[in-house]
Amino acid sequence: STIVADTGDIASIRRLKPVDATTNPSLILKAASQPEYEHIIRQGLDSARRQPDARSRLQAAIESIAVGFGVEILQSIPGVVSTEVDARASFDLRATVEQARRVIRRYEQAGIDRDRVLVKIASTWEGIQAARLLEQEGIHCNLTLLFSFAQAQACAEAGVTLISPFVGRILDWYKKSTGQDYTAQQDPGVQSVKRIYDYYKACDYRTVVMAASFRNTGEIVALAGCDKLTISPALLDALAENHAHLDRALSPAAGKLEARQTELTEAG
Ligand code: E4P
Repeated sequence: STIVADTGDIASIRRLKPVDATTNPSLILKAASQPEYEHIIRQGLDSARRQPDARSRLQAAIESIAVGFGVEILQSIPGVVSTEVDARASFDLRATVEQARRVIRRYEQAGIDRDRVLVKIASTWEGIQAARLLEQEGIHCNLTLLFSFAQAQACAEAGVTLISPFVGRILDWYKKSTGQDYTAQQDPGVQSVKRIYDYYKACDYRTVVMAASFRNTGEIVALAGCDKLTISPALLDALAENHAHLDRALSPAAGKLEARQTELTEAG
């Protein structure tokens, strides 16, 4: 599996040296409160000042700050960064397309090739159709907030670059509604991602599967072999404390082996 850091904290990215990185508005907000990133906030607010009205100033500030973090993150990783801007566009196809185009324009103005950016879009019906159009323009999309098999099927059919099926938020919901604890193997979030991953590979889809929203290292190990895993710095540190786990999570061969073992077990 390719290891991806799920954070806006650029210092952690420099320390952990992941291949790719993912951010979202709450991760950016958390990082933005640290004094070392003040220059990105100041730059974002400056660019917003040029806008004619309050609404477009707010939009420009949010987008410019998210892209500002993305540009700096790209200086510290060899791969791609995922940028998520404003979820209010999630049920509006046209607003999603326009927002993604603006984000990519900002990256290109900063000298970044669009192939190094994934625009995160919620996996609503409108979001998936927006991603279909954006991919045709060469704008790569990461379909996030993906909780179900049906969403994953629709994303693959739309030809999106990458999906982020969530693990932890499914677990959170089950734990809250049943009051039970789950082992990594019983974890409904892990099972959801495994089903999606196996289906994608059986259909030979090119869309990359990046498991996201992890709550513990057991979930990560259970999903070793998935194309990519996006993991918070705290969980990457916890994995590093246990080298056996880390080796297993990093090794595609181990992941394939596990997939084969599951296949054989399921076949009886
Ligand atoms: C990744 O792309 C997601 O933004 C992230 O993993 C969500 O995790 P959460 O459920 O902890 O918010």
